[in-house]
Amino acid sequence: MAIPAPARPSPGEDRARQVRTLFSEIAPRYDLLNHLLSLNVDRRWRRRAVDRLGWETAPRGRFLDACAGTFDLGLELARRPGFQGLVVASDFAFPMLRHGVDKLRGEALRPVCADSLRLPFPDGSFQGAMVAFGVRNLADRLQGLQELARILEAGRKLVVLDFSEPGGSVLRPLYLFYFRKVLPTLGRLVSGHPWAYAYLPASVQEFPPPAGLAREMENAGFREVHWELLTGGIAALHVAVR
Ligand SMILES: C[S@@+](CC[C@H](N)C(=O)[O-])C[C@H]1O[C@@H](n2cnc3c(N)ncnc32)[C@H](O)[C@@H]1O
Repeated sequence: MAIPAPARPSPGEDRARQVRTLFSEIAPRYDLLNHLLSLNVDRRWRRRAVDRLGWETAPRGRFLDACAGTFDLGLELARRPGFQGLVVASDFAFPMLRHGVDKLRGEALRPVCADSLRLPFPDGSFQGAMVAFGVRNLADRLQGLQELARILEAGRKLVVLDFSEPGGSVLRPLYLFYFRKVLPTLGRLVSGHPWAYAYLPASVQEFPPPAGLAREMENAGFREVHWELLTGGIAALHVAVR
């Protein structure tokens, strides 16, 4: 009997459910594909994100890695020499967390299965928060950003790392060819999932450019929002103060 292909995430009330299902299904191959498809540059981007978090001002503090997936960003912080605090790594796709747990080697990182649109944490209870490749997947971006503002202590930082579309007459066509043609095919072959890696370029296309995301962060209650482009603008790193 043919198994029907899972439905692609679409705007609407069940987008969150579809995104959770997608990541639950690709969880076993997520790390492999992440590093393969990004040619490992994602590791460098995550290091930069943690560099910008300002954790050194509260080395014993609590830091949230929201939409944490398999913890690559949270572990980057938890393994920093001098870090003596706690990383709370939340995600609503339980299989992603389960695969992340296999990578833990006694680091101060606590997985929490939770929806970023309704975080189960008190107001002002974190000394920093970060999200890698998660904000783009939120069913309601403003609500998610407002939640991140709510759980942060005043004066603390939020760091958002996500894809962006590069400009330029050389890099842009190369990027578009790779991202829209090569990546979905490779992703399908390695993950075995029919469309998960076609959803990725589609979601980046719908995502606001860096200035637009910065405005949304301000609307959500952040100030001093600024961003830097990484690897010619393939990714952008936003930093904001609560
Ligand atoms: C592309 S992965 C990124 C994972 C990880 N941050 C990384 O850098 O590899 C996006 C993650 O966001 C999670 N996610 C999307 N919407 C969410 C929500 N509303 N609440 C919690 N997690 C969410 C997905 O389950 C998925 O694990």
